[in-house]
Parts: sequence; C-alpha cells; structure tokens
Amino acid sequence: MALRWDLPALTALLLPLLAPALSAGAGACPCSEAALCRPVRHRRDFEVFVFDVGQKTWKYYDWSQITTVAVFGKYDSELMCYAHSKGARVVLKGDVSLKDIIDPTFRASWIAQKVNLAKMQYMDGINIDIEQEVDCLSPEYEALTALVEETTQRFHHEIQGSQVTFDVAWSPKNIDKRCYNYTGIAGACDFLFVMSYDEQSQIWSECIAAANAPYNQTLTGYSDYIKMGISPKKLIMGVPWYGYDYTCLNLSQDDVCNIEKVPFRGAPCSDAAGLQVPYKVIMKQVNSSVSGSQWNKDQQAPYYNYQDPAGHFHQVWYDNPQSISLKAAYVKNYGLRGIGMWNANSLDYSEDALARQQTKEMWGALKPRL
Ligand SMILES: *[C@@H]1O[C@H](CO)[C@@H](O)[C@H](O)[C@H]1NC(C)=O
Ligand SMILES: *[C@@H]1O[C@H](CO)[C@@H](O)[C@H](O)[C@H]1NC(C)=O
Ligand SMILES: *[C@@H]1O[C@H](CO)[C@@H](O)[C@H](O)[C@H]1NC(C)=O
Ligand SMILES: *[C@@H]1O[C@H](CO)[C@@H](O)[C@H](O)[C@H]1NC(C)=O
Repeated sequence: MALRWDLPALTALLLPLLAPALSAGAGACPCSEAALCRPVRHRRDFEVFVFDVGQKTWKYYDWSQITTVAVFGKYDSELMCYAHSKGARVVLKGDVSLKDIIDPTFRASWIAQKVNLAKMQYMDGINIDIEQEVDCLSPEYEALTALVEETTQRFHHEIQGSQVTFDVAWSPKNIDKRCYNYTGIAGACDFLFVMSYDEQSQIWSECIAAANAPYNQTLTGYSDYIKMGISPKKLIMGVPWYGYDYTCLNLSQDDVCNIEKVPFRGAPCSDAAGLQVPYKVIMKQVNSSVSGSQWNKDQQAPYYNYQDPAGHFHQVWYDNPQSISLKAAYVKNYGLRGIGMWNANSLDYSEDALARQQTKEMWGALKPRL
C-alpha cells in the first residue's frame, strides 16, 4: 500500500511545482456556487461518519444523516460540492509509514503536504488511518501521538472548522499488535473512529467461523476505551456493511464451521481465512443458500451456509439492520459521538425495488431509536 503511487502521493510530489499557483489561490472553484468551496464550519451534535471508496454511488446515500465523508477512493470534486451543499464535511485519508514519522522534520512536511492538498481540493480535514504494528516501547509509539497532535493543530489553524480524526481497532487492548497511546491520541484529535469489525482478526481459541462484529465483543471494546478515560463524546462507532465468507473444512450439524489456520500477528487463526463480501453481494446470495438467514443468539448476528459448485460448504457472517440497530441503540444509550460504517459503497443502489428497500433499511438502522 505504502509504495503505491496513488493520486494523493503524486499530487504531493507535484505540490512544490504547484506552489506558486497555490499562493495565488487554490484554483477555480469547481462547484456551481463559490460558497460551496468553503470549508464546513457548523458542528453537529451527532456524527454520521461515512467512508467512500469511489464510484458514483454517493449520489444515492442518505444525505439527511451524513455529517462527514472520508474519501478513500479517488478525489471527486462533484462529491465535495454535493457534500458541502448538504452541510457535510469531506476529509482526506491520511496514511504514512511510521518509521518515517519518528523524524519531526518529516512529520512537518507530511502535514504541510496534507494541509495543502486539503486546501487545493476544498476539503474539511483528514482521517488518519494507520493500521500498522507498533511496539509499546518503540519510538513510533510517541511519534504517532505527536503526529496526531501536530496534524490537528495545523489543520485547525489553517482550515477553519476542519476536522481531524483517527481510526482505532475495536478494542484498545493491543489488537493486531497495535500498541498506541489511545488516550493521548483521543485527546489530540477531534474524535476516534472505532473500527468495530474485523473482530476475528486474531482468533486465540477454536479456529471456527464467527461474526465479524459480535455484539458483546463490540461493547466490551467501548467499555474498555471509556474505562481508560476516553469520553464517549470522542468515540464514533464504526459498523461493518460487509461480512466474511469462510470456506468450511467441515460443517457440523449445529453449524460449527471449522476454518483453515491462517495466523495473523501472533494469533494462530484469523479472519484472513475468509473473504470480505459487501452487503449487496450477501443479499443476493442469502435466499439461495442451504440454510437461509440464521440468527446466532450468542453473537447477536446473522449468518448462512451455502455450498459452492465444487461442493464445499461455506459459512457467511454479516451484519444486517437487526444486528446494527442493537449497536446503534448502544451509541444512543451511552452517548457516543456518533456512528459510521465501512463502507457506504457496499449497498445496492440500483433501481431494483427489493434492493432499494434493503438499502433504505441499512441507512435507517444507523438512526438511534428512542
Ligand atoms: C500519552 O500521550 C499523552 C499526551 O501526549 C501524554 O501526556 C502521556 O504521557 C502519554 N502516555 C504514555 C503512556 O506515554
Ligand atoms: C473438522 O475439521 C477439523 C480441522 O481439520 C478437525 O480437527 C475435526 O476433527 C473435523 N471434524 C470432523 C467431524 O470431521
Ligand atoms: C428473500 O427472502 C426474503 C424473506 O423471505 C424475502 O422478503 C425476499 O423478497 C427474498 N429475496 C429474494 C431476492 O428473493
Ligand atoms: C453478553 O453480555 C451479557 C451482559 O453482560 C451477558 O448476560 C451475556 O451472557 C453475554 N453473552 C455472551 C454470549 O457472552
């Protein structure tokens, strides 16, 4: 990932060449009205934080709810104009090699590049998504907190009303060997996006297929963040709009699906044995499956079994409006800052009547009910 010459990296590279043009203004505003190029300043009490990975499906999102769109696909000025017209922020993706940021000079230039890129694209902040391993006693541990502090300071200073957020694992207990200063990072940015999914990335017990985001496990993560002293107002709950398709080595009568042992960061098994599948694909498959949709009471999540053309059994675990509503209720009851998902493009935005209904229900499940 880090070595790919993606668009932001190229833009950053070309930035020094563009600097004279930049100081004369960030270029013509691409929106129908100049006002739409202004950063969003208004802050709403409840955040609905959306990851967008590209394509044009954003046109069909439920904009009555969205407060922030993190652009993880190619930059699209049309999306920026549209989001601004709805009062929603559009933020950059921030990822950087942690070895590099130990050097304060490197940090400063990385931040300057990001601020310039955000200004050039009329964006409202940055979502820092570092999922790298960090040793508790390493220089990277402190450098990462410093990076977040300095990024926030610079963005807030240079772009009024801008937002700086940081993505964290479902639990603060060094998931995937990520030893981060969670309280320091939470204090240094506007809020944390808690990735309450991929919760089977390290399976320490039996190697069997399980839910992407089991209810109890998800809630344990939040209670651990809050116990550390992080305010619920600094936490966004990230829910998955995708599931995992596991090939079962064998499938028992009571639906236990043994999976291949694929180690991950010290754990003997992991969800890397499965394939991630978007909700729209799952919805096309579930009715024709062997089992139909089943509900697991312990994990409060749906799953189904199917047989592939080669005769192998698969078990697919996912989240649907039922499992998501339960978590959204927690967001409301514990006064978290908001909710969001990975990722908004996962739904079926076609004209098909059934797909439209399913898509509407997924957006609807984010709304906390009384
Ligand atoms: C975490 O970061 C905060 C803010 O920079 C700092 O005060 C604190 O000492 C750090 N904690 C650890 C354990 O390093
Ligand atoms: C199912 O597969 C697992 C892992 O290969 C094995 O340990 C177990 O004995 C198998 N069970 C049955 C009923 O075949
Ligand atoms: C799948 O089954 C559900 C519930 O029985 C039904 O509402 C839905 O229309 C079915 N979907 C398809 C594509 O047949
Ligand atoms: C989930 O948590 C509740 C409340 O703490 C508890 O009563 C229940 O037994 C737990 N379920 C599982 C499957 O761990």
